[in-house]
Amino acid sequence: MIKTSFAALSVPKAGAVVVLALDGRKLTQTGAELDKATGGALARAMRESRFHGRKDQTLVLPAPSGLTVSRIMLCGIGKPAEFDDLAAQNLGGRVVSQLGTSGDTRVSVVADPVKGLGIAGPALAANIAYGAILGSYRFDKYRTKEKPEDKPSLEAMTVMTRDGAAAERAFEPLSKVAEGVFFTRDLVSEPANVIYPETLAQQARALTKLGVKVEVLGKEEMKKLGMGALLGVAQGSAHDPRLIVMRWNGAPRAKEKRPIAFVGKGVTFDSGGISIKPAANMEDMKWDMGGAGVVIGLMRALAGRKAKVNVVGIGGLVENMPSGTAQRPGDVVKTMSGQTVEVINTDAEGRLVLGDALWYVQDKFKPHTVVNLATLTGAIIIALGHEMAGLFANDDRLSDRLIDAGKKVGELLWRMPLAEAYDKDINSDIADMKNVGAGRGAGSIAAAQFLKRYIQDGVKWAHLDIAGVTWNTRAKPIVPKGGTAFGVRLLDRLVRDHYESK
Ligand code: BES
Ligand code: MN
Ligand code: ZN
Repeated sequence: MIKTSFAALSVPKAGAVVVLALDGRKLTQTGAELDKATGGALARAMRESRFHGRKDQTLVLPAPSGLTVSRIMLCGIGKPAEFDDLAAQNLGGRVVSQLGTSGDTRVSVVADPVKGLGIAGPALAANIAYGAILGSYRFDKYRTKEKPEDKPSLEAMTVMTRDGAAAERAFEPLSKVAEGVFFTRDLVSEPANVIYPETLAQQARALTKLGVKVEVLGKEEMKKLGMGALLGVAQGSAHDPRLIVMRWNGAPRAKEKRPIAFVGKGVTFDSGGISIKPAANMEDMKWDMGGAGVVIGLMRALAGRKAKVNVVGIGGLVENMPSGTAQRPGDVVKTMSGQTVEVINTDAEGRLVLGDALWYVQDKFKPHTVVNLATLTGAIIIALGHEMAGLFANDDRLSDRLIDAGKKVGELLWRMPLAEAYDKDINSDIADMKNVGAGRGAGSIAAAQFLKRYIQDGVKWAHLDIAGVTWNTRAKPIVPKGGTAFGVRLLDRLVRDHYESK
């Protein structure tokens, strides 16, 4: 991870330098000074290229003559009024992706004041640093033979701004969110021989250091609670299941009130069970614990920045395997809610795990709002691809808040329907419901309708189907290839905008 710091505005003398440019090939002040020192090289480079200073455009000039710096990178900011937090983060991420392997070890980003900019100076500097950190994530612990020259060279970024102390203050909570994002990305990237229910629960336990109360339920406790659906999924595996319960009570005591709850699907490997999956891409199913991974990282972010809110985070952790003890298609299980389920397809296991986890959190903690995350269906990838996650909600205001928070952080949601007609599809002839729909269509909706049957009266609820967005095969500025941690920044923002005491 890149080290970031803030400093006063000046003209850097060494390392790589980043300056901002506005639409119309207009340099900011430091850029203009550097241009003068090089005898107009920057202005000429802009003219000789397609760089106009538009948002997301960049141009790198190596070894500019007349200067001691190694290279100058121009970053377009486009129309100042439209430049916001997310744009600044993406700019920071682009610097890292362009200069990361340039050979330079340090970069100075000169965040000159820009008239009419959509964000204040300190926030601009803080968000550039935040984006650089998010974009610098790399999971390389198992690459034992990588040569130093193939590794990223860039180690440190200094963002120069008028008020470095204010930038530092604005950066502090963002750095905690970045820690949460990194934690989630690490957990999601780990293979299933390393991360299984017991070890994932151990990772969650580490949050105790931040003041999170962590409780882990084992198989016997879950049996006593009657979690037959979660236990049915787990019974084919050599690894016993766990239910992790994380609590962060950050609301002022006088305002003590019901918590908001986040619940994650934590299938540490999904082979499909007896209804086994085909071999192609089955390795992807190591990240079928992505929902729980997000909840753990989110708790780290909220506790790290001492969010003034009461939150419960739950992860239902199981491994779905075929074996002589595995559950069979046709088995009927009884959930903690008392409702029974006919298991038609053992690969539709996430909803079985979540049904019990959702019921547990409502019974035990009486949350006013529950948001669950799950890599639940392949069908959501058919519907939305890898650009947006599916959102299902029983409350329009909660839905709007989630969509809005997602836009602000660049984690987009698209609302999908819930309706009685779809609900009928999961009725079973021999039990209260079955775990798959009747036909081949609307697979994501059938799964959401299943979850809805485990939401108690009066509870506001949303379900995010993150199957398409949990793993990235194409790098984006602040989301490198691999585990994305989609949901951590979004839910942190949701909490910050709507559920924290002021
Ligand atoms: N974990 C999968 C969904 C998934 C698929 C996530 C691809 C990420 C990428 C889930 O448990 C599953 O197997 N769902 C089945 C449901 C079906 C059996 C009704 C599916 O989507 O095929
Ligand atoms: Mn499955
Ligand atoms: Zn699954």
